[in-house]
Amino acid sequence: MTASHEEWKLPTCRIGRRVLVFEQIDSTNNYAASLADNPANAGIVIVAEEQLAGRGQYRRTWLCPPGDGVLMSVLLFPPADLRRPALLTAWAAVAVCDTIQQVSDLEPRIKWPNDVVIDGKKVCGILIEQGRGTVAGIGLNVNQSAESLAAANLPLAGSLAALAGRRFDREAVTRQVILHLDDAYDRLCNGDFDTLETSWKQRVGLLGERVVAECQDRTERGRLLEMGWKALTLERRGGEVFHLQPEEVRHLESA
Ligand code: BTN
Repeated sequence: MTASHEEWKLPTCRIGRRVLVFEQIDSTNNYAASLADNPANAGIVIVAEEQLAGRGQYRRTWLCPPGDGVLMSVLLFPPADLRRPALLTAWAAVAVCDTIQQVSDLEPRIKWPNDVVIDGKKVCGILIEQGRGTVAGIGLNVNQSAESLAAANLPLAGSLAALAGRRFDREAVTRQVILHLDDAYDRLCNGDFDTLETSWKQRVGLLGERVVAECQDRTERGRLLEMGWKALTLERRGGEVFHLQPEEVRHLESA
């Protein structure tokens, strides 16, 4: 089940110099994690046509018919200042948004924290798992038809094909995601956090709006004045300004 049928070697800096492509696997995240005992595997990407046990957030299952989506995981050994789920989730989400924008006329946005949505439909989920190494898993719906998403009882899900009205070359999309991930990760490793922060803010698209921030133990409301890796700055109706750490915000949406 885990014999790779293809290996790509991309001319990248840090991510995707080796890409193992599987016909069928239990979960690309599981496979990437199984390679974490060898630091030489840093940056390796696992891609699958089909997952038999794809995993999502909150122990959910990630469903995708064979050959319809981009299912991939990247194994990283990030330096300490990059080992933040909020940052890594944003990194992956922005790379997916940049790819979608590049291959289509669609307008992707990040739905805090780990979804990419288009016209309110979720097209991509991201699962960051930290153990011996860090695994960033990306599931992007590409060629599912609107009918197949409805038949799978996924009314809130979309795919690039269903939204754009045409099919996409999945391998080309996968390669573009990897190139964007590599570019952005290299910038982060070189200490440039600002470029990603700017794209992230723009893709979340809530600056200046009244928002509801659902935190672990409470719900906060206010106008979102600023957001960055250090803090989100909100203003209550009475004018009081307060801050939230990105990590404490479970959901953020327009009020
Ligand atoms: C979510 O939105 O719940 C996150 C979904 C993440 C799914 C991807 S598909 C590739 C990788 N392998 C997995 O088992 N999960 C992630």
